[in-house]
Amino acid sequence: MYEKIWKHSKIAFGGDYNPEQWDEDTWKEDMRLFKLAHVDTVTLNVFSWASLQPAEDEYSFEKLDRIMEMVRENGLKVVLATSTGAHPAWMARKYPEILRTEFNGMKRKFGGRHNSCPNSPIYRKYSVRLAKKLAERYKDYDNIIAWHISNEYGGECYCENCEKAFRVWLKEKYKTIDELNRAWNTAFWGHTFYDWEDVVLPNLLSEHFETERTMFQGISLDYRRFNSDSILECYKLEYEAVKAQTPDIPVTTNLMGFYKPLDYQKWAKYMDMVSWDNYPANEDTPAQIAMSHELMRGIGQGKPFLLMEQTPSVTNWLPYNALKRPGVMRLWSYQAVAHGADSVMFFQMRRSIGACEKYHGALIDHAGHENTRVFREMSELGKELSLLGEKILGTRMKSDVAIMFDWDNWWSIEYSAGPSCLLKYRDEIQNYYTALFEQNVATDIISCEEDLSQYRVVIAPILYMVKPGVDEKIRQFVANGGVFITTFFSGYVDEHDLVTVGGYPGKLRDVLGIWVEESDALPKDSRNHFTWEGKQYEATLLCDLLHEEGAKALSTYEEDFYAGMPALTKNIFGKGSAYYVATRSTQEFYQRFLSRVLDEAGVTGRLDLPQGVEGTVRENEKYRFVFLLNHTKDEKEIMIERACTDLLTGENFDKGDVISLQETKVAILKEERNV
Ligand code: GLA
Ligand code: ZN
Repeated sequence: MYEKIWKHSKIAFGGDYNPEQWDEDTWKEDMRLFKLAHVDTVTLNVFSWASLQPAEDEYSFEKLDRIMEMVRENGLKVVLATSTGAHPAWMARKYPEILRTEFNGMKRKFGGRHNSCPNSPIYRKYSVRLAKKLAERYKDYDNIIAWHISNEYGGECYCENCEKAFRVWLKEKYKTIDELNRAWNTAFWGHTFYDWEDVVLPNLLSEHFETERTMFQGISLDYRRFNSDSILECYKLEYEAVKAQTPDIPVTTNLMGFYKPLDYQKWAKYMDMVSWDNYPANEDTPAQIAMSHELMRGIGQGKPFLLMEQTPSVTNWLPYNALKRPGVMRLWSYQAVAHGADSVMFFQMRRSIGACEKYHGALIDHAGHENTRVFREMSELGKELSLLGEKILGTRMKSDVAIMFDWDNWWSIEYSAGPSCLLKYRDEIQNYYTALFEQNVATDIISCEEDLSQYRVVIAPILYMVKPGVDEKIRQFVANGGVFITTFFSGYVDEHDLVTVGGYPGKLRDVLGIWVEESDALPKDSRNHFTWEGKQYEATLLCDLLHEEGAKALSTYEEDFYAGMPALTKNIFGKGSAYYVATRSTQEFYQRFLSRVLDEAGVTGRLDLPQGVEGTVRENEKYRFVFLLNHTKDEKEIMIERACTDLLTGENFDKGDVISLQETKVAILKEERNV
């Protein structure tokens, strides 16, 4: 499957290039500089709608023709965008319906980008028409390796088009108004809807009093799903338009990692390759960046995975746009590759001279020549990636451990009024992921739909919403010998955010062997404690007060009126076991606890590396490629466990040798699999 989709013989290196902002002499100079930097792939035509369709009945492709010709003559591959991320000014003037309405009800005017209403028939008509025309015109260019639909889809709209479309979406989902009233529990506060027309969008004018605070979670949750689906529909329409002309060119759109408004697990089903833009803040930890890569790789379920954008050095939107320190751009590029990416692409190739991104990093700076630190670092990386060639393309990552992450849970947990404003879904996911990351445990991030039988351990931090079938899947997994871990605030509601009555954690009660009677929200800085295997740990955020119903308490609270009640339980269920972590604790606890559980579950093959060195493995039938990344400022020494060759230096190592990695340095160790 991989070979059919991936149309490049190496890790793609290059990125967003906007020649339409420059004169043609500059283009020529750019071609020279690209060669120097070993750039082999450019993303073109991301924001050119205004010049491609200067008026309603007028299209103009001559400039793009010249650009396409030039890059082909220069041996470059192309990721061709459809330009529909920003509509032209004439369209906004003539059809104000295409403009979005904000959460507070404010109707927007022309400006910015990503400002088109996803449910506007006019926007859909013209965006799809443009995609079709582009595909018809450029379909014979065999250097196009991907379609890039629009750009960083996102945001939301509360206009009248969307309100009407919301009612249609609801009718399709609930069929009858009675079912809608049941699902939303509208008997509360006399909200009964008599007619579909009574339904309005949930925003500041209706159910919300802040972005995240709503009176009716059911309505707001359905709006989130609807908005994600509406935008996805725009993507799908363009997908079909280009696919009809070019069935063999893979289609993608650049995603944004943990981006809350769009349910990427659903989106990825309609993508031939998953690509994403990695813009960590300078203070983000390697574990945070790694978790985003895992999410993005995971949603593709084995499809090619691309790093579509990152900055060569600075961004322009942070309060302090610090430089990437020497070596960090290379380190983070290899980190993406270490997590499965088959491209290292950037925004942008040449820095623009006006508007908000003129101080955003680029391969070619305002100085205009190659004698810059950033250019040197990029061309060295470009050269290395050329030498690496096809060696690791298409290799897979294998994990025995998975963490469940689900957009419906994200939305519903954070819409929940109570139990604590400190409860943030992603933070809890990160706590568990980081504990695994620190022990170099390969971890997949999976949706609730995934087949669990391929894993030994599945962790579902705050699985608040249990959608139909998910409890049964977990039950089977554990019954067949799997190890399942979940936490406080799990099993409370069904897919409509309606509470499962009869005792928490609802449908997970039998497999966990517990009943949670109450849950105590601890104010910031307040703590309880528990002791596990000889060491005392903090309990914060939420402390569940639970009863054992078959499970065994492994530790109990030490303070307050619930001292003595279980803080950590284990239930043997069929051939497997299910753990319940009833409170939030510290990284030290999570690391020790998970390490113990992994040992019990027989998860072997963890790389034993010094603190701050990340290790991952990509493999194919013949070889294992072990990535070692030194995220620290110190030199680190690593003992070699199997004979191997460092693909980046060509150096050979035997078992027992020591490889030393300087600050920010990387090794890719190639090992034979069957020795
Ligand atoms: C995003 C966009 C690009 C550009 C960069 C700047 O990722 O896709 O068009 O705006 O951010 O960092
Ligand atoms: Zn709208």
